[in-house]
This record gives sequence, C-alpha cells and structure tokens, in this order.
Amino acid sequence: MARINANYKKLPGSYLFSTIGKKVNEYREAHPEAKIIRLGIGDVTQPIAPKVIETLHSAVDEMGDASTFKGYAPDLGYEFLRSVIAEKDYRDRGCDISADEIFVSDGAKCDCGNIQEIFDVGNRIAVCDPVYPVYVDSNVMAGRTGVYDAAKERFENVIYMPCTAENGFVPELPQEVPDLIYLCFPNNPTGAVIKKDELQKWVDYANKNDSIILYDAAYEAYISEGDVPHSIYECEGAKDCAIEFRSFSKTAGFTGLRLGFTVIPKDLTTGGEKLWPLWARRHGTKYNGAPYIVQKAGEAVYSPEGRQQVREQIAYYMGNAKIILDGLNAAGFEVSGGVNAPYIWLKTPDNMTSWEFFDYLLSEANVVGTPGSGFGPHGEHYFRLTAFGSRENTVEAVERFKTL
Ligand SMILES: Cc1ncc(COP(=O)(O)O)c(C=O)c1O
Repeated sequence: MARINANYKKLPGSYLFSTIGKKVNEYREAHPEAKIIRLGIGDVTQPIAPKVIETLHSAVDEMGDASTFKGYAPDLGYEFLRSVIAEKDYRDRGCDISADEIFVSDGAKCDCGNIQEIFDVGNRIAVCDPVYPVYVDSNVMAGRTGVYDAAKERFENVIYMPCTAENGFVPELPQEVPDLIYLCFPNNPTGAVIKKDELQKWVDYANKNDSIILYDAAYEAYISEGDVPHSIYECEGAKDCAIEFRSFSKTAGFTGLRLGFTVIPKDLTTGGEKLWPLWARRHGTKYNGAPYIVQKAGEAVYSPEGRQQVREQIAYYMGNAKIILDGLNAAGFEVSGGVNAPYIWLKTPDNMTSWEFFDYLLSEANVVGTPGSGFGPHGEHYFRLTAFGSRENTVEAVERFKTL
C-alpha cells in the first residue's frame, strides 16, 4: 500500500488568503455598491518595463528561427545572466561572488522552500515570528518539525524568534543555537530592515556556532537608506555561513514571468562538506531551468535603460508607501516599515485583534489589508498594508483611513 507523507497532515492549512477572499466576497455580495480597495496581497500591479518587453519580443523571435533556437537551458542558468548578476548585484557592491556561485531559478519561493532538502532532517531551524510561511511549511513537509500546537500557534522543535516593536522587528540572537537560521530583510511582512553592523552580528554568531544562515533578500531593490546591506555578503565572513535568495518578482515585476536565483559560495561548508555540489546536484536532478526568453528578460533588467525603468517602478511603489506612512501617521496610527520595503506594518488601534481590525476596515472604509496574526503569533494586533496598489487607490485608501 502506498502511504502518504504524514508530515503534510501536520500543516494546519493555509487559511489566511482564502479567508480574506471569502470575507471580501461576502462583503461585496452584501454591499454591491462598495468600491473596495485592496492593499492586502503582495503582488505588483505595474506592467513589465518597456526595455524588458522589447527584449522578450526579440528572444521569442530567436526561438522561431532554427539558427537561434534554444532548447534546455544550462543547469545553473545561462552564463550571460549569471555574469551580469555577479557583476551588478555583487561585485559592484564589493561582494566577492562569481558567476558560477549563482543558480538561476524560476523564483525565490521554490528556492527558499527547496533549500532545506540538502540539509539533514535532524537540523533545528530558527525563524522570525511573524514569518513568511514558506520557510516553516517546507520544513514541516520534510519532517524537520514536531506537531503543530494550535494553542501556541507554533510547531514543536522550531525556534521562533519574536520580532516586536521593542526590538525594532529585528530578532535577538537565539539563546538556543539553531542549525539553520532563516532571515529575511527587507522583511515581509513587517517591512523592517537590518543595519549592516547588526547583520554582521548574525554572521559572527553563525560562524561561531557552525550554523547556516538562509538569507532571503527578495526585497533588496526597495532599500533606500545607506547603512542597510543589500546582500549578506557585504558582511565579513558571510561566505563561510550564508546562502542568499533573490527574486526578480518585486524588483522588476516578474511575479508572472518567474525568475530568481540563489547564491551558494563555492567554499561554503558545513561539517566539512561543501554545499555547492549538493545544490548543483539537486538543481540538475529536479529542475530544468528558467525559460531562455525569461532569462534574456532578466538580463535586460541590468541594461542601463532597464535599470532606469525598473527604478522608476520601484520609486512609484515607494511613493505609495510614503503616502500610506505619512497619512496614517497623521491620522494617529502607529506605523513602521515602508521606507526600505513595500510593506507597512500597522499596530491595530484600541487593542483590536488583527481580524477584528480587518473586519472593521472592510466595513467602515472598504479597504482590504492582511491580518498580521496570519504570519505568526507575534503578528497579532498588527496589520500589513502593501504599496503595490495604484497611486489613485492608495491616496483614496489613506483618505478613508482618516475618516475612521
Ligand atoms: C519574503 C519573500 N520571499 C520570497 C518570495 C517569493 O518570490 P518569488 O515570486 O520569486 O517566488 C516572496 C513573495 O512574496 C516573499 O515575500
């Protein structure tokens, strides 16, 4: 008899976005005249930059011509893309990362979820609370956690690192030493960032304790302040303890095109074993490469025109973030994030729970956001708004907040 992977049964079910969808639909049916503004989902709304579209078109034409047609991509990705990433994202920032340390993929979600496969099932993981759920759920599926404790809203055998207003939403170094540490900065959902000297402490901690840091920098392009590192490899010793994930989704609007990459330094080891060959083996066995046309589109993001156009898109979203931050501050809300990240983290007023505030905001202002408690127990009494809406909707949503 075939048996299922019983670890999947430990997952309590991802109710967050389906519950939001259900509540919004119910409200819409009861109030068909309401003009609902969605500032909940973390998806971009601006179209792909013109330079990228132009490149996509010419890459499509190449696929229709026998002399330029491309089949399977090289296992680690096309050299033209890996070289430009190594140069522009790393060496230009003083990080000694080479093209053959870059693994091109179809996005950061798969890589963040799959990376745990190259580590022993007995490894103990540490995650931020609140957290992007992929890090935890992928380890649950692999059997690296205990059961889910519904009362505590936590899995056993996971080290949760509280991110609170008191610590500026940057966790303290854990007392109990984890083997694998997931960090995400700029952070989803809090919009918090870590300063370079603080990140250096994590790198030193990991090197001292032989832990590996899994660093998700999917929102790196939104950093506007000077002392905030774009890559963990800006810290000394990070090549000895860290793997980094990047995505084109929020950087260049590729949520529907799909492109990302993972950096594993060639000499990164744990227990004397190199990690690069393990991920190369996994990639080669289970993955057949991002499409040529999408990798060409990714290369175009680094061209002078592409960079300029993508910067303008990010500036547009960050303009929205500023409107939300300033407007909500003026209206007396406690808000953070939104300066180096497209997420604004709002403290719910009058000690409302995150879901109470969700219902209140939907019914009183017809605005949809994401309850912070959906990201972990320390997200309770918080609420996430995104800067990915249109300018018009963002301005309108803020005006409605002011009337609450
Ligand atoms: C923190 C974080 N990492 C990774 C991803 C996934 O990115 P991608 O679209 O490249 O799979 C997201 C997307 O929302 C995210 O918020």
